[in-house]
Amino acid sequence: MLDFTVMRATLADYYDLTPSVELAEALSDIHAKMERVIPFPDFVRYAPYIAAINKLKAEKNAVILAHNYMTPEIYHGVADVVGDSLQLAIEATKVKEDIIVQCGVHFMAETSKILNPAKTVLIPDVEAGCSLSESITAAGIDQMRAKYPGAPVVTYVNTTAEVKAASDICCTSSNAAQIVRALPEHTVIMTPDQYLAQNVAREVPEKNVVWWEGSCIVHEQYTKDDINDFRAMNPDTTIIAHPECPPDVVDACDFSGSTSGIIDYVTQKKPTKAMLVTECSMASNISDALPEVEFTGPCNMCPYMKKITLEKILYALHTMGEAVEVDPVVAQKAKIAVERMIDLSRTLTK
Ligand code: 13P
Ligand code: SF4
Repeated sequence: MLDFTVMRATLADYYDLTPSVELAEALSDIHAKMERVIPFPDFVRYAPYIAAINKLKAEKNAVILAHNYMTPEIYHGVADVVGDSLQLAIEATKVKEDIIVQCGVHFMAETSKILNPAKTVLIPDVEAGCSLSESITAAGIDQMRAKYPGAPVVTYVNTTAEVKAASDICCTSSNAAQIVRALPEHTVIMTPDQYLAQNVAREVPEKNVVWWEGSCIVHEQYTKDDINDFRAMNPDTTIIAHPECPPDVVDACDFSGSTSGIIDYVTQKKPTKAMLVTECSMASNISDALPEVEFTGPCNMCPYMKKITLEKILYALHTMGEAVEVDPVVAQKAKIAVERMIDLSRTLTK
């Protein structure tokens, strides 16, 4: 567990992190990407961290892979690659640098390590977990196999390396339906997100999809009634949901897609008003690029994603901790499930 007192004292010894108007002005091209959501006085506080991280990243030959749910100062300020879970997994296979700093949750860092066993993969806060990942163990996969003999196990990437290693193939929210459809078996086990599985089951009616009862604490909070009430009061708003939401919520919305699918949809359609039924940083990160869109409505915060901060990223790069390790035998098996997904996904989108 991170000791904040030690972290702050260490950083103060090595870096000048005093809020600086001059530095913020010098980094105005970065601020321009988040001006609509990060006022200048806040950017004045972030600027010294952004400058220090970018300098250290170059000195140490590190790359920052950041999920779409990172806050704008991370997403626009220090990330080299941003994307949804599938894009980050694919990008992790192409990394040339020696060090990967994973700005996202622990299972994402594990995936990068599985794909790059010889590289150092750092997670700025090892406690950045995930309710889906915590909902299942490898024993749970065995239980499902015993219940549905012969059925392949398609496991969402939001799981530990052990769970991936016990599965046949992984999926993300952007390729889950394609992967289930492509498997030859009629009955397919999906773990651990019951709602993603139920949404896929409707998209692929020719299959008998069975699922584990896990859920995402961010997306399960939305209800059909919330969406319908919001729509009644805001009839001109386009409402877009992530497929980790329950199916009746997805039905009440205008579109559903992975985090990058949502970004692409809003970028192409440019609705006058949009409500993103997902994590709060999504709208913040694309707000400046889409000045014609007004982002409205409630959003939910992921407490795990929000554990990653500029301060912790700088500390991770400075101390080279916490390095993510995966047992090599587990990693080898998990890699097969992740690479099967990446390969199949590439063939299916050709
Ligand atoms: P995607 O970015 O793959 O849509 O996943 C969302 C998510 O909840 C990641 O934790
Ligand atoms: Fe896990 Fe949900 Fe947070 Fe994504 S948003 S990391 S699925 S808890």
